[in-house]
Amino acid sequence: MEDRDFSYFTEQFKAMTAIDLNLYKEAQMKRRLTMFRQKKGFASFQTLLGEMRTNKQLLNEMLDRMTINVSEFFRNPERWSTLEKEFVIPMLQKLPDGSKLKFWSAACSSGEEPYTLMMLLDRLGAVNKSEVLATDLDKAILNKAMQGSYVERALREVSSDLRKLYFTYDQGMYHFSPQLKSKVVFRQHNLLEDSFENGFDLIICRNVMIYFTEEAKRKLYQKFATALKPGGILFVGSTEQIFTPAIYNLEPADTFFYRKMATRV
Ligand SMILES: C[S@@+](CC[C@H](N)C(=O)[O-])C[C@H]1O[C@@H](n2cnc3c(N)ncnc32)[C@H](O)[C@@H]1O
Repeated sequence: MEDRDFSYFTEQFKAMTAIDLNLYKEAQMKRRLTMFRQKKGFASFQTLLGEMRTNKQLLNEMLDRMTINVSEFFRNPERWSTLEKEFVIPMLQKLPDGSKLKFWSAACSSGEEPYTLMMLLDRLGAVNKSEVLATDLDKAILNKAMQGSYVERALREVSSDLRKLYFTYDQGMYHFSPQLKSKVVFRQHNLLEDSFENGFDLIICRNVMIYFTEEAKRKLYQKFATALKPGGILFVGSTEQIFTPAIYNLEPADTFFYRKMATRV
């Protein structure tokens, strides 16, 4: 009965939001949504669904609960220094005059990841040689990202020099540089449903693929590989190694980095 209630919910929820819960690991998702349903006092998913059809706020709260938005600046700092030294600097050295590097922070949450990239690019004098796209499924978190205000915890890996350069502190919050903020293009985007742009030099997609089923991940790796330029880099999270990258035309480039190989002939 409970299983049927949840699968009916999954079906109807997809029709309503275009989000396919079947592409997320089931046990984890079910646990999270059951907690949400119980907290809101609904006896079944069917009654929750009925209420969500007219109550936008409830729908938004549920979307918030569906995904975990935790992020921080320079998450796994040593990976960011590898990104800078091994990949971004060489990309800049090879960049033809007048061209721009194309970067995508996919599932960017509240903006810490694209803004970390902006600080890195600014220190390399590369902001005007770059285009940075940042996307997430969750509109509310994107609004937060565009505001760019953070509590201390999100900055625990940010040195005091960088804090001085790129943040102002006011009323308990750190506010990210408006100038760098304005260079990031934020957009709502569902990695599991929407089409991808292509021609990226670097795609950062970290700490979201862990929520997806193996099948959804396989499709996603293929789409990322297609979206990269030959030689472009995919940067994944610290529990998200790709076990057979060659089938996507990717090769390991460093720990948690994959390079798109030149097109096969
Ligand atoms: C844990 S955060 C990761 C943030 C950042 N990438 C990092 O590693 O710090 C996961 C993000 O994935 C987003 N997300 C979940 N499913 C998604 C999907 N299908 N398409 C795009 N973003 C999704 C969530 O809204 C959430 O903001």
